[in-house]
Amino acid sequence: MDIQDKIKKFPENFLWGASSSAFQIEGGWNQDGKGKTVADFNSFKRSDKQADSKVASDFYNNWKADIDLMSELGLQLYRFSISWARIIPTGDGEINENGIKFYDQVIDYLLEKGIMPFITLYHFDLPYALVEKYNGWEDRECAFAFERYAKICFERFGTKVKNWQVHNEQNLMVRVDERMNIDVADKWEADRMRAQMDYHMFLAHALTVKVFRKVVENGKIGPAVSSTCSYPASSKPEDVWAAKMNDCFKTEYALDMHVYGEYPKYYMRYLKERNIVPKTEAIDKDILKGATNDFIAVNYYRTLCIEHLPVDESHVLGERESIMNQVDFDQYGYFRHIKNENLKASEYGAQIDPSGLRLVLNRYYEKYRLPMIIAENGLGAHDVLTEDKKVHDGYRIDYLRDHIEACRLAMEDGVEMWGYSPWSVMDILSSHQGFKKRYGFVYINRDDFDLKDMKRIKKDSFYWYQKVIQTHGEEI
Ligand code: BG6
Repeated sequence: MDIQDKIKKFPENFLWGASSSAFQIEGGWNQDGKGKTVADFNSFKRSDKQADSKVASDFYNNWKADIDLMSELGLQLYRFSISWARIIPTGDGEINENGIKFYDQVIDYLLEKGIMPFITLYHFDLPYALVEKYNGWEDRECAFAFERYAKICFERFGTKVKNWQVHNEQNLMVRVDERMNIDVADKWEADRMRAQMDYHMFLAHALTVKVFRKVVENGKIGPAVSSTCSYPASSKPEDVWAAKMNDCFKTEYALDMHVYGEYPKYYMRYLKERNIVPKTEAIDKDILKGATNDFIAVNYYRTLCIEHLPVDESHVLGERESIMNQVDFDQYGYFRHIKNENLKASEYGAQIDPSGLRLVLNRYYEKYRLPMIIAENGLGAHDVLTEDKKVHDGYRIDYLRDHIEACRLAMEDGVEMWGYSPWSVMDILSSHQGFKKRYGFVYINRDDFDLKDMKRIKKDSFYWYQKVIQTHGEEI
C-alpha cells in the first residue's frame, strides 16, 4: 500500500461500543424467577472474601438509567449477555416470561436510544440445575438444551436484534475448572472431562448457528474468542515452535473447529497422546461442518511469552503448578510461560502490549478471512474515587488509545473490522477481585462489602471515549 493510501480514518460503518456480561453487572440473582447459575454458585463460595453476583452493579434494577448513560457516552453498540437461567431457570424446562420481559425492555430502550444490541448467549453462567442434572456440558444433552434456549432467544428477540455471539471465550472457559464445574483431584480425569465438555460446546455452537439461519433474517452470528498472542522467549527454533503451539492450543484449535468444523491434526494428536479423545456421534460431522460464521469477536487484554518445555522436566512443572493459573497452563513436551521483560504490566499482572493486538488481528484474518470486532479489551485497575467524586483514570485512557491505534493499524494492514467494544461499559464484578479491580467507563460507588449508594460516577475515561466516538476515532 502506498503511504498516501494509509487509512487515517475509521471506515464510516465502524461501530463504537462497550461490553458487559449478565452475572457481572445484573445482580438480582434470584429476582423474578431467575435460576442459580454456575457463576452464582462459584461467586457465593467467595462471598466472605469479595463481592458476589447477588447485587453486582445492580443493572437489573437500574437498567434504564444505565442505558441513559450509555446514550450520553454516545455508544453505537452495546455488547451484553443474556442469562440463560433468567430465560429458563432450570436450563431445559419452563420459560420464565419475566426474564423475557426484562431483556425485551432493555433491547427496546437500547434501540430507542439508537444503540445496537449485540448479544452473547452464554457468558460463563450455565444454569446450575443442569450441573445437578447431568454435570452440565459433560452430557451431550446439554448441547441440545442450549440449542433450545438459543432458539427461544432468536424467536423472541431476533426480529429486533441482528448481531449475536454464541459462547463467550469457550477456549478460555474450558480451562478454568470452576467455570465448567470440574471438581476432581485426578488431573487426567479433569482433562478428560474438559475435552468432552469442550466438544459438546462446539456442537452446541454449531447447532445454534444452524437454527439461527432458520429463525433470524439478515442476522449475523459468530464465536467470541479469548485471543492469545505468544512471543517466543528466544530465537531458538524449539521456543518459536512452543510459542506457536501455545497459540494453537489456547485459541486457534477452537477457531479452526468453528470455521472448518474439525480439530486440527496437532490437537487430535494431543488428545490422543493424553488419551482424552471425546466421544462423538456420526451425525456430528455434518452439524459441525455445516455451521458457517459471519465474523469472529476478539477479546484481547495482553500478550504472553513462551519457552519450550521438554517432556522430562517434571520437577520444574511440579513447582510451577502451584503458581500457574489454569488459563495460562503449561504443557509437557510443548510450552511454558515466562515473564516478558520487555513489557510493562498492569497492577494485576497482565503484560500490556498493543502491538500484540495488531498481530492477533492480522493472524486471524490471514487464516480465517472473517471480519472481526473487538468484543473485549480493557485495563483492570484499582481506581480511586477522589473527595470531589471524580475518577482520574488516565492509565485506562492511555491503554485504550494505544489499542484503538493498533486496530487502526491492523485495518491499514488489510484486516476487515466492524467495531471496537471495550471492557467494560461500567464497573463489573471481576471474578477473582470483585470490585477491587475495575474496568468501566462508569464508576459504581460500592466496594466488596459495602454497597454504599451504588451511585454511577463518570470517570475521566468516560469523557475521553465520548470524544473518540463523536470524532469517529479521529481524536484519540
Ligand atoms: C474476560 C471475560 O476473559 O476477562 C470477562 O470475558 C472478564 O468476563 C475479563 O471480566 C477480565 O477478567 P477479570 O478476571 O479481570 O475480571
